[in-house]
Amino acid sequence: MAQKLWDKGKATNEEIERFTVGRDIEMDLFLAKHDVLGSMAHITMLESIGLLGKDELPILLKELKSIYKLAESGDFKIEEGVEDVHSQVELLLTRKLGDLGKKIHSGRSRNDQVLLDMKLFIREQIHLVANAVMDLFHVLIEQSNKYKDVLLPGYTHLQIAMPSSFGLWFGAYAESLVDDMALLLAAWKMTNRNPLGSAAGYGSSFPLNRQMTTDLLGFDTMDYNVIYAQMGRGKVEKTVAFALAGIASTISKLAFDSCMFTSQNFGFIKLPDECTTGSSIMPHKKNPDVFELTRAKCNKIQTLPQQIMMIMNNLPSGYFRDLQIIKEIFIPVFDELKDCLKMTTHIMRDVKIRENILDDPKYDFIFSVEEVNRLVLSGMPFRDAYKKVGLDIEAGKFTPNKNIHHTHEGSIGNLCNDKIQDLMEKSMKEFSFEKVDTAIQKLLR
Ligand code: ARG
Repeated sequence: MAQKLWDKGKATNEEIERFTVGRDIEMDLFLAKHDVLGSMAHITMLESIGLLGKDELPILLKELKSIYKLAESGDFKIEEGVEDVHSQVELLLTRKLGDLGKKIHSGRSRNDQVLLDMKLFIREQIHLVANAVMDLFHVLIEQSNKYKDVLLPGYTHLQIAMPSSFGLWFGAYAESLVDDMALLLAAWKMTNRNPLGSAAGYGSSFPLNRQMTTDLLGFDTMDYNVIYAQMGRGKVEKTVAFALAGIASTISKLAFDSCMFTSQNFGFIKLPDECTTGSSIMPHKKNPDVFELTRAKCNKIQTLPQQIMMIMNNLPSGYFRDLQIIKEIFIPVFDELKDCLKMTTHIMRDVKIRENILDDPKYDFIFSVEEVNRLVLSGMPFRDAYKKVGLDIEAGKFTPNKNIHHTHEGSIGNLCNDKIQDLMEKSMKEFSFEKVDTAIQKLLR
């Protein structure tokens, strides 16, 4: 029987519920253990301001710890008919402890709960992404140092231009990751502020001790203004997405270079056989599919900031259900990016490089600027030297001197990889990973 639009009967409600819950049942599983940690900090604070009894707190904490274990082992489920992770945790508590379980929500709203859960989730994920970036960074620096004397053609407009080297090429991507890490650090700093206590977005008449939950959860500080704390929903995700997009952009460029350099028409690098894929018709094929997929996935990741902006940019202050949709585009991206980083690290570690590439006469003109500079150093004005070499080339009288000597910072002969490493280490030290881990371990003890 067809339901009327204004019908308040069960059938309509079920449809509405399905639509409004959406993919939360799936996405909120990523937040489960963080939701539990948030509740542990919150009720510890509630007890300190007299909203929970001294005897009640340990009972609740014990039960929350066992729910945390459930979430960590992957056995936490959101049951049929339950809306989200916040409701499921409360349901498990009340099922076990009765009315006591119902006390944990004082001074809190699902709005600041999900804000907090997302921040705790993001903190954990940024740590994992930073580690994966460091793995790749070390491999790139190692390869750069190892092959610092092996020359490559450098291109502009994809036309041969000037001498380059594997030292420069590997090192360039390492330095790119330094800047990506700086952006990730900025995203970390914005993430690492406690929104808990903002409740529905306007605070609470209970005398909440927000500094206490800030310390218990290992945050640097809090989002002070409760309206601003709520405004962080979407803003934080967008900022983190820009940082992830920065890393993805570096990786997709590296992937494109690698695909091109393995082509027979370049032939500068060779991927390890076990990292290539074959063709169903051409028996000779060893294709760089891993890099092609990495390129596509990383390009896709770069659309994330725009997607988030389209969802949240024109919302006024205050909570809106629109924000829920950010979870389903944002949460899965961390695993995708970490996967791409892992693949890239693996292949960069084992890639074979070709020596003596520039012996081929097709690259002779790459040394034209070297010749111009030699004439300039012997006293000829640059414009005259440029013209002389140009005319020699036209007349077929140019013979390259392949003995090159670059000395300035960041050039073939002076890569400054130690300086690049210093910059990276400086950034890494600024993440407060240890402080966060210590706080969480203490809370769980
Ligand atoms: N699933 C919701 C979200 O992600 C949780 C918050 C619900 N709050 C509300 N006022 N309906 O935003």
